Amino acid sequence: MASVFTRIGDWVNERAPNMAPAYRKHMTEYYAPKNFNLWYYFGSLAILVLVNQIVTGIFLTMNYKTSAAEAFASVEYIMRDVEWGWLIRYMHSTGASLFFVVVFLHMFRGLMYGSYHKPRELVWLLGMLIFLVLMAEAFMGYVLPWGNMSFWGAKVIISLFGTIPVIGGTLVEWIMGDYLPADATLNRFFALHVIALPLVLLLLVVLHIAALHEVGSNNPDGVEIKKGPKGNRWDANKPADGIPFHPYYTVKDLFGVGCFLIIAAFIIFFVPTFGGWFLEHDNFLPANNLVTPTHIKPVWYFTPFYAILRMIPSFFSTAIWGVLGMFGAIALLFLLPWIDAGKVRSIRYRGVGYKVSLGLFVVSFFALGAVGAGVVAEVIPAWFGSHIDVTFWENLFGRVMTAIYFGYFVFLWVYTHRGLETTKPVPARVVYDHD
Ligand code: HEM
Repeated sequence: MASVFTRIGDWVNERAPNMAPAYRKHMTEYYAPKNFNLWYYFGSLAILVLVNQIVTGIFLTMNYKTSAAEAFASVEYIMRDVEWGWLIRYMHSTGASLFFVVVFLHMFRGLMYGSYHKPRELVWLLGMLIFLVLMAEAFMGYVLPWGNMSFWGAKVIISLFGTIPVIGGTLVEWIMGDYLPADATLNRFFALHVIALPLVLLLLVVLHIAALHEVGSNNPDGVEIKKGPKGNRWDANKPADGIPFHPYYTVKDLFGVGCFLIIAAFIIFFVPTFGGWFLEHDNFLPANNLVTPTHIKPVWYFTPFYAILRMIPSFFSTAIWGVLGMFGAIALLFLLPWIDAGKVRSIRYRGVGYKVSLGLFVVSFFALGAVGAGVVAEVIPAWFGSHIDVTFWENLFGRVMTAIYFGYFVFLWVYTHRGLETTKPVPARVVYDHD
């Protein structure tokens, strides 16, 4: 067998001599820091989920009907009559939520270890572009089953563009292709969800990883291994604190994949709707433009940003401030490499101010998620009695959390640009026994 593979390899090499060096550059001769921890699983897991979405998506497309009259019934048909259709659909719907779980953790790792600092700004920016496209992809996918929340979600989100002065109204009509989300909307969302955005996503992921491989990975210590001593067991010219990606990290990542698949399989087989968080109850009813769901809210991964939209009040009789706030919350993440001028990358060696502010930022993100999902409005009367003014307290809580979310960026700017941060000494090489 080996000789057959060798001969095929030689045959390919003769015709495409640059392919083997490319493989070596990105796998066997790509040296990654030796101290990666659990937080470094999520990049490879994001690739896994992306592949899952594309493969299951292809199979869903084989039976899905792109028309407002047939879409809902075709999804029911996939669930009930197509062999293994339920599995394919649950893999796709669970995969969408797990994609965001993985990507949020992947981004949080970047915040903790300062992976967006020089020279990895481009890696971060490409990552943020991926995040934007992923949100658009998820939003459009959610509209396709043409359930009642698909319809109303599309209506609310597309209508946000109506707040743009002068062109708003025309823009909304242009996006929908109608006066309400309708057949034309569904058809164009299908085209974008199934082909255009996945292509863009794939391209961005390739660029993201290529950009990373130009500079090499950061690590939990935030130490630049390329600047450390050279020479290790495999190669005298490579960093002493690096190990070849293959087989070391391919095997480590495979372990992560195993654990991840166990969790994913549990959800898919036992709790596919995840109590209404992954597949909402209102979406098991067909779209009906005469029946508004009691609470229109997006899927959980949009709720922090949706809460910011809701919490910012209208001034001068326009709701554009909320829309600006929501997009601003994402835009600030793009700018992080320039907002944070800290001298030290990893949270392990950063000042107390950084640790506290990042902790508060995470709390505000979860809290806003709860506000956006309507959890806070349910909890307030349950905990404090029905006499309480729910709207007032929900708004107060949501606005404080919105202030903390934006406050993180303001604080970080002042803290690092004014030299207020007292850091710990960073070790010259990666260590395992930091405190
Ligand atoms: C489809 C989504 C994504 C995929 C497939 C992906 C893939 C990867 C992979 C494979 C790595 C190298 C392994 C690792 O460090 O975990 C990586 C690193 C990185 N990613 Fe992503 N990524 C995605 C989204 C994002 C997003 C949304 C951001 C943030 C804006 C981001 C920021 C980064 C950064 C800063 C690094 C370098 C980390 C370091 O060296 O410490 N990525 N990504």
